[in-house]
Parts: sequence; C-alpha cells; structure tokens
Amino acid sequence: MMQARIMRPYTEGFFRRAGIVSGMSVLDLGAGVGDVSILAGDIVGPGGRVVGLDRDAAGLERARQRTVEQGCSSWVSFQATNLDDFSTADQFDAVVGRYILLYQPDAAATLRRLISFLKPGGIVAFHEVDFSCPHPSYPPCEVFDEVVWLVAEVFRRVGVRPDFGRFLGKTFLDAGLPFPAIVAETLVGGERGSAFYSWVGAIVVSVAPRLADLGLALPAGVVADHSLAAKLEGAAVAQGSQIIGSTQFGAWARKALWS
Ligand SMILES: C[S@@+](CC[C@H](N)C(=O)[O-])C[C@H]1O[C@@H](n2cnc3c(N)ncnc32)[C@H](O)[C@@H]1O
Repeated sequence: MMQARIMRPYTEGFFRRAGIVSGMSVLDLGAGVGDVSILAGDIVGPGGRVVGLDRDAAGLERARQRTVEQGCSSWVSFQATNLDDFSTADQFDAVVGRYILLYQPDAAATLRRLISFLKPGGIVAFHEVDFSCPHPSYPPCEVFDEVVWLVAEVFRRVGVRPDFGRFLGKTFLDAGLPFPAIVAETLVGGERGSAFYSWVGAIVVSVAPRLADLGLALPAGVVADHSLAAKLEGAAVAQGSQIIGSTQFGAWARKALWS
C-alpha cells in the first residue's frame, strides 16, 4: 500500500492518457489489495464498473473491505482466480494492470487471452517497471546500491524480469495488439525524508526470508528490519547521493475494431 501511494499519480496519468473515462467498464489484472481497481473505480465513477482479478483470496478480502471503507463497493468488485482460468460472458471497455505482466510465464499469451474479454476498439493499458539499474546512486552509496542490486537479483533468480517495463512493446505485439504508445518516467531523489529509503527498506525486509534459498545474502552490516530505512537514508544523505529510482513505464493501445 505504501508503494501504491507513491505510484498512484503515475498509474492514474497512464490510464487517463490511455482514454479511460467516466462510465467505462474495466477489468484489472492482478488486483492485489485493490489499489489499482479503486483508482480505476475513481476514474469511471458509479456509472462505470471495475472487476479486479487476483489468485490471492486473502488480498482480495482486504481489497473488498477497502472498497467498503472508500464507498465504491457497489461498482468495484473482485474475483479470486488465476488469470489463465478466468472466463466471463462480459465484454469490458478496458483491460488494465500494474506490476502484473512481469510475473506471467508467458505475458503475451496471458494478455492475448484476457483481451478476448475486451470490446472491439477497447483500451489495453499497463503500468510496468524497470528497477534493474546497477548503480542507482551518485556519488556512489555502496550500501544503497548493494541492496537495490540484491532485490533485482532476487527477482532474476525466481525467473521474473526486473526490467520487464522494457518489454511492453513486444508483449503487446505478441499478444496481437498494435504497438502501444509508451511513456517512461524515472523517479529521482536522495533528499532526507525521501520515500526511497522506507520503500527499498520494506522490499528488502519482505524478500529477506527467501534469500538463503536463492543462494543470496544480505550485504555485510545490513539487517533486514525496521532500522534499514534509516541506515540507507543516513548513508545516502551523508554523501549527498542523488538516487535514480525505478523507471515506471505506461503502455496503452486499442484492440482492433475487427479481426
Ligand atoms: C505486485 S502485485 C500488484 C498488485 C496491484 N496491481 C498493484 O499494483 O497494487 C501482483 C499481484 O498479481 C497477482 N498475480 C500474479 N500472477 C497472477 C496470476 N497468474 N493470476 C492471478 N493473480 C496473479 C499476485 O497475487 C499479486 O497480488
């Protein structure tokens, strides 16, 4: 949810530029705890409809609670399913997702199947990322660069591309869509209080239990707990490091009117 708060303006910008407007029906792939579905729900409003899909039923329960808390539960709903098993007689105005295609063994095949639930001329809009930059800080802040490399390496070792954002064009083409409009925005920071430190710290804490299984270890002197964010901030701020964060890619296209 912290990541979703940081990402919301980027995702919203991509979706609005893709043409998602009030009254549309939207299918959100990999809804997680609901942030993108709720964002799409804010755009389409009560005259529209959003269905979020995810295989994690517990996450979707949290997502449902949040729609109740935020007053959009009558037009934002969720379905627990693997994306490759989803089927419906409905036809949507838009198929969207954030940080979902990178996790699919064959992203183009998954996308090709799911756009069969999209109306002719409907919108396909995805937000993906590239966090593979090997030296994100300058002047180099060793501990920051090491933990960012470690996180990217965890993804590589489980078969997930940390630079998937760069493959959006090809993924759309392989799914039978036109080459999409693509924009990229790179987050840059390093100042005291930057969200980078708590964000990267939280990611390291979340992957730490998997490190030994993957043949990886925390850098010397790094402890994966709530103190990590302050350690990263202290080290980077002390030397005035400017930090290149992840690059956020938005890509969108329309399904052909006829095939
Ligand atoms: C990184 S989270 C992104 C959540 C949300 N889109 C966001 O940006 O806040 C990825 C989500 O995709 C779901 N997911 C990944 N592959 C899936 C699949 N094949 N079928 C259903 N859900 C999937 C995971 O369970 C997880 O909740």
